[in-house]
Amino acid sequence: MANLQNQQIILGISGGIAAYKSAELARLLIKSGAKVRVCMTQSACEFITPLTFQALTGNPVHTELFDLEAEAAMGHIELARWADRILIAPASANTMAKIAHGFSDSLLTTLCLATKTPVVIVPAMNQQMWRNRITQKNVSLLEQSAIRVLMPAAGEQACGDIGPGRMQEPQIIVDTLGQENDAVLSGVNIMITAGPTQEAIDPVRYITNRSSGKMGFAIAEAAEQLGANVTLVAGPVNLETPRNVNRIDVKSAENMFDAVKNNVVGQHIFIASAAVADYQVAKVATQKIKKKDESISLALSKTSDILAEISTQHNDLFTVGFAAETEDLKQHAMDKLHRKKLDMIAANKVGNGQGFDVDDNALQVLWKGGEHALPLTSKKELAKQLMQLITTHYQAR
Ligand code: PMT
Repeated sequence: MANLQNQQIILGISGGIAAYKSAELARLLIKSGAKVRVCMTQSACEFITPLTFQALTGNPVHTELFDLEAEAAMGHIELARWADRILIAPASANTMAKIAHGFSDSLLTTLCLATKTPVVIVPAMNQQMWRNRITQKNVSLLEQSAIRVLMPAAGEQACGDIGPGRMQEPQIIVDTLGQENDAVLSGVNIMITAGPTQEAIDPVRYITNRSSGKMGFAIAEAAEQLGANVTLVAGPVNLETPRNVNRIDVKSAENMFDAVKNNVVGQHIFIASAAVADYQVAKVATQKIKKKDESISLALSKTSDILAEISTQHNDLFTVGFAAETEDLKQHAMDKLHRKKLDMIAANKVGNGQGFDVDDNALQVLWKGGEHALPLTSKKELAKQLMQLITTHYQAR
């Protein structure tokens, strides 16, 4: 069970059907040792009554910005100072937009503006509202302001839709808060590429490689466990999204480059573990290619080198590349470290059952003036060790 002993938490509740889960959340927070005060927006009170939370927490519930009685007991500035943490669950698209843009038109939004304490936001909304570019931009804005956003779960929604937008389960939220006590990367935004890319030949065929995405997804999970806000740009893979990770699915190298460029602003660390195609089909056939000739040739053109372009254009970004090699591992990796202007590179042997599409891996990590070997182990364990190394070097820079 998470230990939140004596942590003073303001539980903010905004309007949404998921507000019913906040009662269980309040109960679990208290069970973990936290002292909880609840602040509800007007819309939240339409879904669940303040009385429920008063009974659960034993404290009066705060709902009004201008309430003489409440201000006399504990003013909103005092309330903001009281908190070790503000947790907003559920956070509606509207409340997220207001906080992202610095509005202070309700007690809850005012508290967020009037505090230096960490704010954690747990979104809950219809899947289309969550996917909307405006909401996604607001998520980026919040993360740039060092506000942690716990990514919603996907599944069946109250409105009948299916997709991402469900509020995380109360136990997961409490566990995540518990882990944050040793969250060395709290407030750090990390973008990771993972998996293969698919380069179309015609409407039914493509060129790809054997990457399963396991290495990149394990890194995303390890980074999230250290408290980072993680954006995972994933090629076509068959893997579950790690908890609290913002996943963007792409197909081709060009799609991956676009997704990275669109989301790179505000990132602190970029880890390129994807096996991006070096070449794409120069002219993709619009119709299925017919089996007429004995042999055919495909003209290929070079794709953009995502990692090299990003590291050259964003000098402040801490960049970590991968090198997949079948021979002269260290020499090729060193060359990529310098040529692509990286802070670090993780080199792995591939081919003959190594690296691609297996559960275990080994890495030789190199940087200017140093190196460290991470011996063969599971990709999950390896990702944790790699994230420790990256954290040390990122913090030292
Ligand atoms: O996905 P798994 O099955 O778990 O396998 C893991 C892995 C073997 C794919 C992974 O550990 C790995 O080595 N990833 C990098 C694969 C690769 O394409 O390496 P490379 O040496 O060709 O490329 C060097 C670096 O440039 C990589 O960081 C790559 O992401 C990046 N790159 C390459 C080409 C390109 N057009 N854009 C890029 O960003």
